[in-house]
Amino acid sequence: MFIGKPVPAAVLIDRDEIVNKLVKDISNSRIHPSFALLGYRRIGKTSILLKVKEELERRELVVVYFDVKERATDPEGFLRDLEEELLSAYSNHLGGFQKVALKASGLPRTIAQKVIDLVSSVESFGVELSPDGTIMPKIKLGDKSEEDFAKLFRSVFKTADVIAERAKKRVVLIFDEFQDILRLKEYKGLKNVLDLYRGALQKRGNVCHIISGSRVHMLRSIFEEPGSPLFQHFTSETIGDLDESYATKLFSSVVENREIGVGKEELRKSGKKIFSLVGGHPYYIILLGEAWDGKSSLENTFERLIAAPTGSLYIYANYVIAEDLGKATGGPMLNKIVRVIAQEGKPMESSEIARKVGKPQNYIQSYLRHLSDYDVITRVDRGVYRLVDNV
Ligand SMILES: Nc1ncnc2c1ncn2[C@@H]1O[C@H](COP(=O)(O)OP(=O)(O)OP(=O)(O)O)[C@@H](O)[C@H]1O
Ligand SMILES: [Mg+2]
Repeated sequence: MFIGKPVPAAVLIDRDEIVNKLVKDISNSRIHPSFALLGYRRIGKTSILLKVKEELERRELVVVYFDVKERATDPEGFLRDLEEELLSAYSNHLGGFQKVALKASGLPRTIAQKVIDLVSSVESFGVELSPDGTIMPKIKLGDKSEEDFAKLFRSVFKTADVIAERAKKRVVLIFDEFQDILRLKEYKGLKNVLDLYRGALQKRGNVCHIISGSRVHMLRSIFEEPGSPLFQHFTSETIGDLDESYATKLFSSVVENREIGVGKEELRKSGKKIFSLVGGHPYYIILLGEAWDGKSSLENTFERLIAAPTGSLYIYANYVIAEDLGKATGGPMLNKIVRVIAQEGKPMESSEIARKVGKPQNYIQSYLRHLSDYDVITRVDRGVYRLVDNV
């Protein structure tokens, strides 16, 4: 199964309505929409975006999916990666979506030449041909002054406009976990990164933007507060829970995949119960479907997941959701661990964490493991952890 990972388009249950709406509007060349997909953690945003990408590519649009959270750690890396994704999408488009790598040796010469031509028309970028024949965008930074990064930022987005012109196709930029773009604000020249982004958005070349993120309250403040540079620039779409029939279907498919010998009738009965227990949150449904032994009652399984402090739903509910809602409460031991690491402000040894929370080291292991499974903390080295977001 795909616990925690975005699911392949073929496995995605429900969500046709939102996928179709995005595909229909974005591929309608007479309008120029920008969408913001909002939804709490693990509700299925990335899976939806990837399906939209697939469908738009089938219609020969040039699509880039870019996870901002993964890339927004430093501006140079962020902008170079984005430029590279753009060039990659362009060469794929030229090659008829055969997923050609940006390798000049593997790329037909005509395509490689077109990519190189394109880059040379964009300010601040050059191309580098590495010995293995890979085409890499090369940043030409001046003295790294403030204006430099702003210029680089504009150049990357300009690349999208130029691709649209040359390919004579709409370019679609999908930014997942968009709120993390604010991390770039710390850097010279990017303090007003949202204004720069608005500038790109307003150019109105044949480029459309879809952004998405799980920090719902943060994103809302980006789009819905009158003082924000992006106020009223996006149509918001909220991704909610699955309907009952789809919830049942998802649960059944999880249980059937495990081949634990649950009869049809038994499965039908449990499927009915699932919605009353966890509603239509796909991730909860999957966790429960994975945890159920097929014999004991679903209620008991659910109780165990929600009540045991190391149960997956307990952790999920207490941390992942609560953190996003900005009101992390409950889960005394988990809370304590997170607080201790936060106070330290830098990566910590698990022995040190154990000492500070006043418990033996082996006692806190399972908590640490779960906290990392849910992206609350991350392991930087053997037995050394830090918080993912320093909130
Ligand atoms: N419609 C669906 N059909 C099947 N599985 C789904 C569906 N929606 C979500 N899931 C399950 O939920 C998990 C999370 O999905 P996805 O990564 O797309 O959500 P997300 O909202 O992007 O999450 P995150 O907040 O972690 O980025 C997936 O691993 C998948 O197992
Ligand atoms: Mg996601």
